[in-house]
Amino acid sequence: MLKFIQLTDIHLIDGGRRLYGVSPESRLHAAIDSINREHDDADFVVFTGDQAHWGNEATYRVLTDAIARLNMPVKVLMGNHDHRETMIRMVPGVETDENGFVQSVMETEAGRCLFLDTKKEAPTDAGEYCPKRLGWLKQQLETADGPVLILMHHPPLKLGLKGMDIINLLDAEAFFDVLEPHVTKIRHIFFGHVHRPIFGNWRGIAFSSIRGLNHQLALDLKAPETSVPGNFEPPVYAVVLADKDQVVTHMHEFMDRSPHFELVTPEGVDGRDYSLNMRHGDWDRMA
Ligand SMILES: [Fe+2]
Repeated sequence: MLKFIQLTDIHLIDGGRRLYGVSPESRLHAAIDSINREHDDADFVVFTGDQAHWGNEATYRVLTDAIARLNMPVKVLMGNHDHRETMIRMVPGVETDENGFVQSVMETEAGRCLFLDTKKEAPTDAGEYCPKRLGWLKQQLETADGPVLILMHHPPLKLGLKGMDIINLLDAEAFFDVLEPHVTKIRHIFFGHVHRPIFGNWRGIAFSSIRGLNHQLALDLKAPETSVPGNFEPPVYAVVLADKDQVVTHMHEFMDRSPHFELVTPEGVDGRDYSLNMRHGDWDRMA
């Protein structure tokens, strides 16, 4: 069984500064602590973009030092906030295709993992998948003789979040044209960018996205295109278990500190029965 971890949208700021009042560097180290403690048997960790908020050297130095704490292979993808040349130069092991895009392939027991680069050059935050990248993807799909998992930053579909839908993958139709002959092989698309847990199906392909590590997008389906409402729902990483038959994605709120207890007995954490009349405030006193 393949096991991998997806983290996304760290938005590191250099100098240990906070972003929206939160330290992305602390959140990253907390996530790595959790992975090393709970999931050190993962086959790889993938960061699905927006590692750096401004894409500068200092932030990639922070990222490099942090991922050195992981004892499994790490894949780092491009997000709209990332700077391609700087990230390639500063972060060891970032692989590129023959055209210099941050794209690579990994053969696993669950099939072929394709790591895509959907970065469109500023001044937009939207994504693109140009003809050169489409050519690379077409070749990888045509030569895959088993299941395929796709990992990328920008969602290729509209999610009902108007402020984000206008900055998703702009050329999604051309992208799907390349995917379409292989839909039965493509088991899942994992993406970031939207800082929300979202699951569904796009034209026959399952997809999921997860919250970021620093700040989140609030669920406000009435917000207009001009608004991108944020909030501080808990950060997560995904734990993915996959083989040739199935793909299972767990969301892990790794900073949750509520007590763990055994559900199969009526006794709670200290032998007393907490199964009845538990009020939310009780958790705080117990924690
Ligand atoms: Fe982001």
